[in-house]
Amino acid sequence: MSWPDGHRGARVGPHHAEGEPIGPPTRAIFANAAQVVTCAGAARGRRGVEMSDAVIRSDVAVAINGSAVEAVGAFDELAARIPSARVVDCERGVLTPGFVDSHTHAVFGKPRFEEQELRATGMDYMEIARRGGGIHASVRDLRARDEASLTDLARAHLRRLAAHGVTTVEIKSGYGLTLEDELKSLRVIRRLADELPLRLVPTFLGAHEIPLEYREAPRTRTEYVDLLVHDMIPVVAAEGLATFADVFCETGVYTAAESRRILEAARASGLALKLHADELTSSGGAELAASIGATSADHLAAISDAGIAALAGAATVATLLPGTMLFLGKTAHAPARRLIQSGVPVALATDFNPGTSPTTNFPLVLSLGVSQLRMSAAEALIAGTVNAAAALGLAHRVGQIAPGFAADLALFDVSDARELPYWYGDHRCRATWVGGKPCYTSELGLS
Ligand code: NIG
Ligand code: FE
Repeated sequence: MSWPDGHRGARVGPHHAEGEPIGPPTRAIFANAAQVVTCAGAARGRRGVEMSDAVIRSDVAVAINGSAVEAVGAFDELAARIPSARVVDCERGVLTPGFVDSHTHAVFGKPRFEEQELRATGMDYMEIARRGGGIHASVRDLRARDEASLTDLARAHLRRLAAHGVTTVEIKSGYGLTLEDELKSLRVIRRLADELPLRLVPTFLGAHEIPLEYREAPRTRTEYVDLLVHDMIPVVAAEGLATFADVFCETGVYTAAESRRILEAARASGLALKLHADELTSSGGAELAASIGATSADHLAAISDAGIAALAGAATVATLLPGTMLFLGKTAHAPARRLIQSGVPVALATDFNPGTSPTTNFPLVLSLGVSQLRMSAAEALIAGTVNAAAALGLAHRVGQIAPGFAADLALFDVSDARELPYWYGDHRCRATWVGGKPCYTSELGLS
């Protein structure tokens, strides 16, 4: 298959004279897909049985007009209605909404492969952190790097995510833990948002750890929480560098009371809220996320019954990160079935980070959703699109292929949508488009 220059990701079809310049708005029809996973329906997190229907259609084409989807319907009808449209031949692949990776820590320096071997010998994640490794190791490393070096590293990671069908990426700061180093990380995200065709959503995670320098006299952890509340959050919000604030609420890291204080300050500064909740131990994180109106509560491998009940009565999306548990060598997984049965909207994300989940393979996370969390393929697809968009407050714009939604699309070399979680660890993405513009093709790399 060739992708002619100037028509990247698109073929000039019978409805457009070859060589004729194509000016904006670009009208195109994505045709000849074996299936189109539309996820069409309500523009909000899907709950319970709503997650069982990804609205998979055969024999339909997708018309886009500029950056938005215009129509989904029979090819002949669309082609007659829009004779000027270019035709993109999907060659019997499966077309999906671009995946939404709603939880990553993609701005970091060196990888932490030594810790993987330490864990294999029996030392657990929190023990490594207590000895000054873990997040602290990434903090030392990031503080020593400049913005340009971090930008280069993050760009490469984002290209890999894009190559796996991801078109929207949430990225957290959190390896700086000083005002300057957190701003440096958030500026990297802003630069890459301007540069890359991907949609990026920045999150301030200054509360990722208690910095080592605030753990010993004369300084105290309360002083660092004060710094977050009085200095860091107001500056980050005033500079418009983050959409969300997040806290690592966990035994040995931030208590639920500290987390609440930080999140309330973030909300007062105009930031939306997320929470790393009940990842390793049950510490009231899900209950806090629900009661404070967080957009998402993430991890939840150790969520309590009370936490499930709290989320069921809230608008908060439960974002599950099975890659993290797999990579940490844990057998416990978030209770996806109970969450879904309780009516909690469930999303899936990579948690891409150097310590606990160094993967950019989004479809692998869908595989783990099915094989480890016992979700159906349809539930996993909804979790990686509509519900992940809801976890970013973007369900009105992305996550489904329906008229008026952003033309964020991914095309895969499979002929049945159930193959997306099936070929685990494989690379099947052929191309993606963001707002109708080519973002990645397997032939040309990320544009
Ligand atoms: O989501 N849990 C906290 N943060 C990350 C891990 C970060 C790290 O170890 O570098 C997570 O798993
Ligand atoms: Fe995380």
